[in-house]
Amino acid sequence: MAWYCSGSTNTELIENLFKAGLIRDERVKDAMIGVDRAHYAPSRAYSDSPQPIGHGATISAPHMHGHACEYLIDYLKPGSRVLDIGSGSGYLTHVLANLVTSPGNQGQVIGIDHITELTDLARTNMDKSKTGSELLASQTVKFITGDGRLGWKEGAPYDAIHVGAAADKLHPTLVDQLRAPGRLFIPVETEDDENDRDSISGGQYIWVVDKKEDGSIHKEKVFQVSYVPLTDAPKG
Ligand SMILES: C[S@@+](CC[C@H](N)C(=O)[O-])C[C@H]1O[C@@H](n2cnc3c(N)ncnc32)[C@H](O)[C@@H]1O
Repeated sequence: MAWYCSGSTNTELIENLFKAGLIRDERVKDAMIGVDRAHYAPSRAYSDSPQPIGHGATISAPHMHGHACEYLIDYLKPGSRVLDIGSGSGYLTHVLANLVTSPGNQGQVIGIDHITELTDLARTNMDKSKTGSELLASQTVKFITGDGRLGWKEGAPYDAIHVGAAADKLHPTLVDQLRAPGRLFIPVETEDDENDRDSISGGQYIWVVDKKEDGSIHKEKVFQVSYVPLTDAPKG
C-alpha cells in the first residue's frame, strides 16, 4: 500500500511520516523535525513530494531523505564527516549536520553541487534559521561548487557519502574517499551485480557500498528508484 503524508507544520509532516512507517529511526525523525522544510522548498513544503527549486533541480521528497539517513545512520555520529553530493536546496545537508553534531562534538558535512546558484541558495536557505546560521558560521557545514562525481578529496576520508542524483556507475573515486569503516549511499543507473544476473537488464537502484575496517568493499543493491542523473554542469 502506498502512503501519502503531509502536515500543516513541519513537525506534523515528520510525525505523520513516522506514524506511516516511512521514517522509523528516532534520531532521523528528530533531525528532520529540527529542519523546517519551508526554508528549503519554495512551495508545498509540508507535503511528501519533490518540488522544483530552480535551475532544473528539485528538492527530493522527505521520505527519500529519511530513507537515505536511515541507511547511513550507523555512520552518522557526533563527530562524523559526511559528503552530500548534489546538495541542491541544502535541506538534507542540514539534516545530516544535525545528526553529526552534539554539544562539544562537531562533525562536518560538505554539500557539493555543480551549479553555483544552488550552492548560494543552499547557504541562503540555511541562514534562515538560527541553528542553520550557526552551523555555517562554525563551518560544520560547507557548500562547495564542483563536480560531485569526483567527490571532494580535500575533506576525505568521509564516514558517510550521500549521492542525491543517479550515477552512471559506482564511481571508484567516491569509494576511495570513504573512511574504513565507511558507507556510500548512491543511486546508480545500471551496475552489474555479480549475485544478480537480472541487474544487467538495467533500471535505477540505490546501492549501499561499505568499506570495511580492513579496507575490503561490500556492495549491495537495496531498492529501485527514479532520480535525475548526475550530469556535466550547464555551460555558461
Ligand atoms: C534531485 S536534486 C537533489 C537535491 C537535494 N538533495 C535536495 O533535496 O535539495 C539533484 C542535484 O544534483 C545536482 N547535480 C547533478 N549533477 C551533478 C554533478 N555532476 N555534480 C554535483 N551536483 C550535481 C543538481 O544540480 C541537483 O541540485
